[in-house]
Amino acid sequence: MSRYSEALLLCALLAGSAAAAEDPFQGIGRAATPDEVRAWDIDVRADFLGLPAGSASVAEGKQIFAEKCAACHGAEGESNAMFTPLIGGTDAQDVEVGRVQALSAGPSRERTVFMKTATLSSLFDYIQRAMPWTEPKSLQPDEVYGVLAYLLNLAQIVPADFVLNQANMAEVQALLPNRNGMTNDHGLWPGAPASQGGMGNGGTPDVQAEACMQDCSEEIKLSPPVPPPMRQAQGNPAEQNRSFGAVRGTPLSTN
Ligand code: HEC
Repeated sequence: MSRYSEALLLCALLAGSAAAAEDPFQGIGRAATPDEVRAWDIDVRADFLGLPAGSASVAEGKQIFAEKCAACHGAEGESNAMFTPLIGGTDAQDVEVGRVQALSAGPSRERTVFMKTATLSSLFDYIQRAMPWTEPKSLQPDEVYGVLAYLLNLAQIVPADFVLNQANMAEVQALLPNRNGMTNDHGLWPGAPASQGGMGNGGTPDVQAEACMQDCSEEIKLSPPVPPPMRQAQGNPAEQNRSFGAVRGTPLSTN
């Protein structure tokens, strides 16, 4: 059961006990059916809980990739026209060590998906929920296993006759080139902070906050703000005229 299902179950239990006293939502809506919950419950966790049953070979994946992915990512995941390339920048030594050497080559080096990704579950989950870009959630489980098998072969992680399935995902995780590369001891944007014209937060870790449980601030302040260069990248939305009407945007002057 995924965390989402657990949360739903907890809600149902809480709702059950509250219903005896007073149901504030009486007459509003109806309980989600098990099928409806299943349709939403597609997350795949790092320990692979949530993986759907399925399997596909590298060769089958190559076919699917050519039809559904290559137009944007290139036949071998090499294109950077759409986004960073999916494949490249990793070698046999990275597979052995679990840390991609090329990541230490300085900030100007292009970073591909297989250079950065530390968890295979994230790739499966992302492709299943978000790709193809124009038709998210349209892939069957076998198709997700297939394109992932093909990408793993292109990245020289599995052989050309490999068949990926829910049972051997964990074995492949143990070969992922950057599996030991995950860290949370620096900020997501390590550069200078926005107050100094940069896009970072000075390198401070931004994922180690502790939840406040008492005497908490009533005002929520998100930090760091979106840096000016990014906010202005598309011009001022408030001044734009789009086909669907006026857009309320943040005026540039409030930066
Ligand atoms: C119409 C263009 C298009 C198609 C077709 C497409 N993608 Fe993508 N893909 C994108 C874009 C754009 C992004 C970046 C999205 C973002 O960052 O929000 C992306 C991101 C990704 C990423 C993550 C990249 C990263 O750096 O995090 C993966 C993996 C991926 N696509 C795999 C696939 C696979 C597999 C298919 C085929 C089933 C596919 N894509 C089809 C446009 C496309």
